Amino acid sequence: MIDRRSLISGGAAAAVAVSTAGKAMAAAAARAPQGFLWGSAGAAYQIEGGNFASDLWILEHMKPSIFATPSGDADDSYNRIDEDIALAASFGFNAHRLSIEWSRIEPEQGQISYAALAYYRRVLEQLHKHGMAPVVTFIHTTVPRWFAANGGFMTADGIAPFASYCQLVTQHMGDLITASATFNEPNINALLSWEPTMRNLGPQLEMMRKGVAAQLGNPKWASPLLSDFHIQQPIMIEAHSRAYDAVKTASKGAFPVGVTLALNHDAPPPNGDMTGVLLKRSQVLTPWISAPGDFVGVQNYSRSIVGPDANIPETGVPMTQMGYPYAPEALEKVIRMVAAEARRPIYVTENGIGTEDDAQRVAFIKVAVQGVMNCLADGLDVRGYLHWSLLDNWEWTSGYRPKFGLVAVDRQTFVRTPKPSAYYLGQIAKAGRVV
Ligand code: BGC
Repeated sequence: MIDRRSLISGGAAAAVAVSTAGKAMAAAAARAPQGFLWGSAGAAYQIEGGNFASDLWILEHMKPSIFATPSGDADDSYNRIDEDIALAASFGFNAHRLSIEWSRIEPEQGQISYAALAYYRRVLEQLHKHGMAPVVTFIHTTVPRWFAANGGFMTADGIAPFASYCQLVTQHMGDLITASATFNEPNINALLSWEPTMRNLGPQLEMMRKGVAAQLGNPKWASPLLSDFHIQQPIMIEAHSRAYDAVKTASKGAFPVGVTLALNHDAPPPNGDMTGVLLKRSQVLTPWISAPGDFVGVQNYSRSIVGPDANIPETGVPMTQMGYPYAPEALEKVIRMVAAEARRPIYVTENGIGTEDDAQRVAFIKVAVQGVMNCLADGLDVRGYLHWSLLDNWEWTSGYRPKFGLVAVDRQTFVRTPKPSAYYLGQIAKAGRVV
């Protein structure tokens, strides 16, 4: 096999030819290093079921609603988490990403549920028992009702309660955490503001927010999901920074703390004008990598063509169930962009596809993971690949229609049925490379 050093010697023309072929071979054969995290991800609200004390529970039950179906029992994972963990381990994964539902830990402001803290501690213990490293997210979209009632992250009053919650969780289970994210995709509202369809949805979201506020007789009521990123994002960045310090202190720096970011591969329109790409990046990436953080969690699902002030919808290309382009090759491009901009270690904390066709998921994984291997072959510091998602679950406003899971879940019996893609990703995890 041609090794990378042998490419340095030799005549110039030959070196270029060999270099291209050699690089391709090296990339194809690239393996993940020892300790690389392989696994899948999930979020409490999307799988646990019955999270009545969360802001989203109120939103789902508003009329009219932008949610296709309420979350209800979700996957009943709160009661079946041991089975879920055992399943993930059986595929050969060595890591798992999960979130903690703040509204279970602190259902009313200042009222701590020690039972819920003990529950999540037990979940992390189960992961370790099965040889899987826990990657913990403190907020994955949802917040307690009382927090939304106080104005959420639309007011600086939200900063201290969030930092205290992160500190509390770290004190109770920090010894079991491998890596953590303060927020999941706190840049999502900024990212979606570039989507022309979401711009039309903007007034509808504000109408919903006002509807809840009126129904509850509380004009301050603010759910992060519905809030204007121009006001909310700087406050969330401050909240992240304070939580970062709190977790670092409580854990004595034992594990890395970062955020996970929703990032499309953004390309300019055919005229090459980068105005929109750079402006979008300055909103969705730069503010977050300028804040404290030990890594960047990359979450990629697709690509966009970005005009000067909005994405330009693509037509005539294969789409996923979510209505955006099928683009497994986007992950590699996003990792390279983030590595160049952030100069921090990267974990792929989400990547996946909504599809009923599991063979398409297998094909997607193959290309996406090869992209990660290509980055590793080029010396980029990528430390894990966590696929979204372990289970088919509640996909926010789309309800239960999109299927992102490696495992199917019966909506009435909750019986779990692994799909071929689960075993395929497991084989990759065991080999440490694309198979
Ligand atoms: C979110 C997940 C979601 C996934 C698929 C990400 O934006 O973090 O909660 O289910 O994308 O749409």
